[in-house]
Amino acid sequence: MKFEADQISNGSMRFTPPKSWLEKRGGANHQIIGLCELICYLDKQWAGATGKNMIEIGSHAGESTFMWGASGFFNKIVAIDPFQMNYAWAIKKLYKQNISYFDTITTVENFSFRVDNKFATESIDFLYVDGEHTLWDLTQDLELYEPKVKVGGYIAGHDYSPPWPDVVNLVNERYGEENITVFSDSSWLVKKTS
Ligand SMILES: C[S@@+](CC[C@H](N)C(=O)[O-])C[C@H]1O[C@@H](n2cnc3c(N)ncnc32)[C@H](O)[C@@H]1O
Repeated sequence: MKFEADQISNGSMRFTPPKSWLEKRGGANHQIIGLCELICYLDKQWAGATGKNMIEIGSHAGESTFMWGASGFFNKIVAIDPFQMNYAWAIKKLYKQNISYFDTITTVENFSFRVDNKFATESIDFLYVDGEHTLWDLTQDLELYEPKVKVGGYIAGHDYSPPWPDVVNLVNERYGEENITVFSDSSWLVKKTS
């Protein structure tokens, strides 16, 4: 069991981040705190309304997916991930455990760019983009999935932070820095206004 956990902790894990991540923030786990901030932000914007739907691109071990499920906002969460990472068997096991608490989550085991045609234009309330973070991949995800978000809905993603300059530059250029809200896990969020 320890072997399994050791292998997995080399990946990006919100629930059990490596010590080095925690040390940066005085020991508190901002990978969780930041997503809670984002969820509180949505709660204010939506004035507590539920029955929303969302797409997550990149679910990994299902930890952010768990948080969306636990938020109670969504009656439909589509989680897209090809699960082709290192130690996929172990990551998938954790993913299945994490999503098992909720009957609102549908898993699409594929690459985002192969399944975009499954979703209607302006049909979702919230998009969270956390797949590949290269300029090319993130641009592609936003080009393909931004149209799926309703006007008045929210587009968000992870890793708006210095180690990911492509994410910061692209999000700034695309949406304008003044329109972006950033949370302490380095999630970013904008409202789709047109
Ligand atoms: C940083 S992890 C996601 C972490 C997760 N959102 C969380 O916060 O707990 C990135 C994930 O994106 C997935 N991924 C990479 N390219 C993808 C694509 N084109 N479509 C969907 N998922 C992708 C990888 O398999 C990996 O599991």
